[in-house]
Amino acid sequence: MNGWTKDQIGHMKTALRLARRGWGLVSPNPMVGAVVVKGKKIVATGWHTGPGQPHAEAAALQEAGRKAKGADLYVNLEPCNHYGRTGPCTEAIIRAGIDRVFYGSPDPNTVASGGAKALEEAGVEVHGGLLAEECFELNQFFFKWVITKVPFVIVKTAASLDGKTATSTGQSQWISSKAARNFGHHIRAGVDAVLVGRNTAAKDDPELSARPWGRRKMHRQPWRVVLDPGLKLSTKLKIFDPAMGGPTVIVCAKEKAPEKKMKQIVSMGHQVLVAPLTHTGILSIRWVVEELGRQGVQSVLIEPGATLADSALIEEPVVDLAHIFLAPKFIGGVKAPGMVGGLGQSELALAPEAEILKLGRKGPDLHITLRPACGFGGQADFEALCSLA
Ligand SMILES: NC(=O)c1ccc[n+]([C@@H]2O[C@H](COP(=O)([O-])OP(=O)(O)OC[C@H]3O[C@@H](n4cnc5c(N)ncnc54)[C@H](OP(=O)(O)O)[C@@H]3O)[C@@H](O)[C@H]2O)c1
Repeated sequence: MNGWTKDQIGHMKTALRLARRGWGLVSPNPMVGAVVVKGKKIVATGWHTGPGQPHAEAAALQEAGRKAKGADLYVNLEPCNHYGRTGPCTEAIIRAGIDRVFYGSPDPNTVASGGAKALEEAGVEVHGGLLAEECFELNQFFFKWVITKVPFVIVKTAASLDGKTATSTGQSQWISSKAARNFGHHIRAGVDAVLVGRNTAAKDDPELSARPWGRRKMHRQPWRVVLDPGLKLSTKLKIFDPAMGGPTVIVCAKEKAPEKKMKQIVSMGHQVLVAPLTHTGILSIRWVVEELGRQGVQSVLIEPGATLADSALIEEPVVDLAHIFLAPKFIGGVKAPGMVGGLGQSELALAPEAEILKLGRKGPDLHITLRPACGFGGQADFEALCSLA
């Protein structure tokens, strides 16, 4: 259907708002919200609260009860058509007597897809593609992982206006404002894993936990993943504390890691991953990300020092989205690290490019959201998903 009405757009926006409540709760499922509308009035709403819980459509239909007969249903993702932990939404929609279904994105998951067709065959009027881009953007972690089995990778970094991520003495806490750091915790709360390099773990002793402000309690913590080729990190660091919740994964290299230390870390209840080295002798970040995907991780937040940033953005580009905070201060010093380390490009033409998606502020800091050219989520990925409809 072309030329959506103002009301139809408004109802899908409501469904998207409801879906966003699932941030940090629903993985490995997508965030979904649903609205039941009779005439011009919203008679029921629902959202997916987590794996094993009713899907958004089922929750909204249950709330609507008899009012669902002859009503319209708005949902950001094509209704599922399979028996998983819950029954097919298509059956619930047909049983409830819904007249028309409006959805945003097709479901690329071959196990659950085919919902639109099944509904049409049962005589329900179905319209896909309403606010398609917003619906695609909302569930990029889910879409990328389902289609490629590789997690969606986000980088978050804070620098001074002159691009420094620490002082020449190694101090980096805190360059950015509380508002920017709160946003960092919001992202941590929504991803499956947070990844850092060995030096950051050793110098900052971070918890790598999500501590979102003003929100419900976290029901789970992201995996903590640390690149430590020679397993040199002290097991007294917070990342090894079992009280932290959520698993810690230490990535090492067979050539560099002592077997005794490997066994010690495993005996503490953590996972040791043995990764290959690149031709420059560092751990292959691409392999690490792909291995996390094989283990079911749909999204990874990298909080890189300059060395890791070079690895993930330039040497083996794996980043889909970057959040860069620039604090209005100058740190200076030729020895103070910049945002990206390594040898750097010898020619400008070789510098990987990125598209700025958004410019905003978090407190006093400039917040730049950008997508590297190789990142998932561009027009081609959007069109590929739409072609599944
Ligand atoms: N401003 C910010 O947003 C921000 C964010 C994070 C960190 N930091 C600061 O950055 C500093 C640490 O940065 P850094 O560049 O020294 O270290 P880093 O990126 O935290 O860690 C680098 C180390 O990780 C190991 N490693 C293994 N494979 C790697 C790979 N593929 N890519 C990168 N590293 C790999 C190597 O250990 P081996 O040496 O054992 O081989 C390497 O020396 C700290 O001062 C921290 O506070 C700032």
